[in-house]
Amino acid sequence: MDSILVRGNGPLNGQIPIAGAKNACLALMPATLLSDEPLTLTNAPRLSDIRTMTQLLQSLGAEVTSMQDGQVQAMSCHGSINTRAEYDIVRKMRASNLVLGPLLAREGHAEVSLPGGCAIGARPMDIHTDGLAKMGAEIDLRDGYLHAKAVGGKLKGAVIDFPFASVGATENILMAATLARGTTVINNAAREPEIVDLATCLRAMGAQIEGDGTSTITIQGVDRLHGATHRVVTDRIELGTYMLAPAICGGEVELLGGRIDLVGAFCEKLDAAGISVEETEKGLKVQRKNGRIRAVDVTTEPFPGFPTDLQAQMMALLCTAEGTSVLEEKIFENRFMHAPELTRMGASIEVHGGTATVKGVDKLKGAPVMATDLRASVSLILAGLAAEGETRIARVYHLDRGYEHVVRKLSGVGANIERVQGE
Ligand code: EPZ
Repeated sequence: MDSILVRGNGPLNGQIPIAGAKNACLALMPATLLSDEPLTLTNAPRLSDIRTMTQLLQSLGAEVTSMQDGQVQAMSCHGSINTRAEYDIVRKMRASNLVLGPLLAREGHAEVSLPGGCAIGARPMDIHTDGLAKMGAEIDLRDGYLHAKAVGGKLKGAVIDFPFASVGATENILMAATLARGTTVINNAAREPEIVDLATCLRAMGAQIEGDGTSTITIQGVDRLHGATHRVVTDRIELGTYMLAPAICGGEVELLGGRIDLVGAFCEKLDAAGISVEETEKGLKVQRKNGRIRAVDVTTEPFPGFPTDLQAQMMALLCTAEGTSVLEEKIFENRFMHAPELTRMGASIEVHGGTATVKGVDKLKGAPVMATDLRASVSLILAGLAAEGETRIARVYHLDRGYEHVVRKLSGVGANIERVQGE
């Protein structure tokens, strides 16, 4: 298995292009199941998760062509399709559950494997299934698969109150409701930019949706959706991750395609920590203000709050801050597995339940480390960039799921980083 070698070597300077959002693209691709006509996505990120979604859609009968080195996903799904999403693919990636709503809306029935637990938490699907049940679906769990059937062959509009603003459940219900009979209202909907991106694409396909980006989304079902071409929104998590590189190492880096509105709460914390973020014509420019990083407290929340997907990377920054920072993880019950690895690099971190207390140290020291999740892995790269000596990060396949060309992007701004094969 490949690993990544990082050696801390001072300030970073230059530009990093930010890709299209993984989590937007993973929701946009299943939308192809809602139409007989082609759906083309541009600015798609080149990631293994996107390839897994491609495999899943192909297994259902969609034609998927990747062009321009994977940046364009041309999809088409006409005629009869298979409605069973197999465990062998679903288990690889939880976002596979996003085919449930579209399949049910198109065919009136679907069998989708439950994804199972994951490293960051149990991640049940009750909010998805309760919402679809309100729309007239009968759903039961047999042999590890959710068997869902729309009573009368077609979903019907409903008022659905989410107990929590789940991103995936909002996406599943949003897609299902576009072809349902009547009006669906989602209360306490997720407001993430990826939801707005999905709604924008669905509207381009002829869906009638209002209120995306707010807590109440209203969808008027239509008889059919048509084809469209849509550009995937910028990846705000990749953006935030690379904003932390000059914050941690010093220097000045411009993030091409970066937008403040995607990372507002994160920028507020960077400002408090002593990092300046400036809007430019091409994106965002980040540099450390004078002096050492200051400690800040962080609580993860649904958008527009501080994203859970940047918590690990922020912790890497705070390891060398002046003072003590408290990080509270409110979205997932087990998302601190980077903490013991950072501790191996000399950080001082205590974790109690969903709270991590980080006492800043002067310097981190390189060490062999590994992580069991994508964002935890990249936080170790960031920490390695600031550490004395060499850090070897194992289990690189996690990074391949969510960061395209991580080595190329960071070495482009002067980082000492390389991928080592088969060790
Ligand atoms: C999305 O996951 C993202 N994944 C995650 O990205 C992200 O961390 C998360 O949203 C929160 O922002 C994709 O978009 C593909 P949720 P999702 O449903 O949709 C609980 C990354 O690193 N819940 O908003 O699965 C759940 O257990 C990742 O790219 C239920 O209890 O997130 C969790 O505690 C990982 N029942 C919380 O809600 C449900 O039916 C938030 O989950 C659904 C969720």
